[in-house]
Amino acid sequence: MVKVAIFASGSGTNFDNIMQRIAKGELQNIDVTALYTDQTTAPCIQLGQKHGITVHILPPKTYANKQAYEEDVLNHLKNEGVEWVILAGYMRLIGHTLLEAYEGHILNIHPSLLPKYKGIDAIGQALNNGEQETGSTVHYVDAGMDTGQIIAQRTCPIYPNDTKSSLEDRIKALEYELYPEVIKEIIR
Ligand code: GAR
Repeated sequence: MVKVAIFASGSGTNFDNIMQRIAKGELQNIDVTALYTDQTTAPCIQLGQKHGITVHILPPKTYANKQAYEEDVLNHLKNEGVEWVILAGYMRLIGHTLLEAYEGHILNIHPSLLPKYKGIDAIGQALNNGEQETGSTVHYVDAGMDTGQIIAQRTCPIYPNDTKSSLEDRIKALEYELYPEVIKEIIR
């Protein structure tokens, strides 16, 4: 079993989907040691509790600086024997402390066809630019924002009557297939 940690900042539906895939036996070699969140009230916390795993709620503001925050995160990761980190809607750049320890072993999913539309509101950017298709990308994490080596992408159409919410639903539906497939392939 490969020990992984999942980081999330928001609704946590990708996290929830990964846990469901594990429960169904579709990701047999993954052992999720804990959910890590930087947000004290994010819905992902309840999802972590629902799945009965440890939830580390570590708000960066309570540390002296980013390095101190990441050193604490790193301590937890090491204590749990974590080998891979899966970012699932974790809205923070990974700094050098975590990169030094885990670069090459951190995956992220981003709701655009990278290198297009990096950063926040990727879905709104694609919609406002009049794109006819968009999608989601899984990539390795480096020091940049959504810049690491691309592993896999999946596309979906944008329809003329789409809203941000309808497009987000379509992208999430494909993420729930894409991310487990990549995790199964890459994390061994
Ligand atoms: C996902 O769509 C993911 O691609 C995106 O946040 C969403 C999290 O949803 N990630 C990024 O934008 C990273 N730059 P979730 O919390 O429901 O899984």
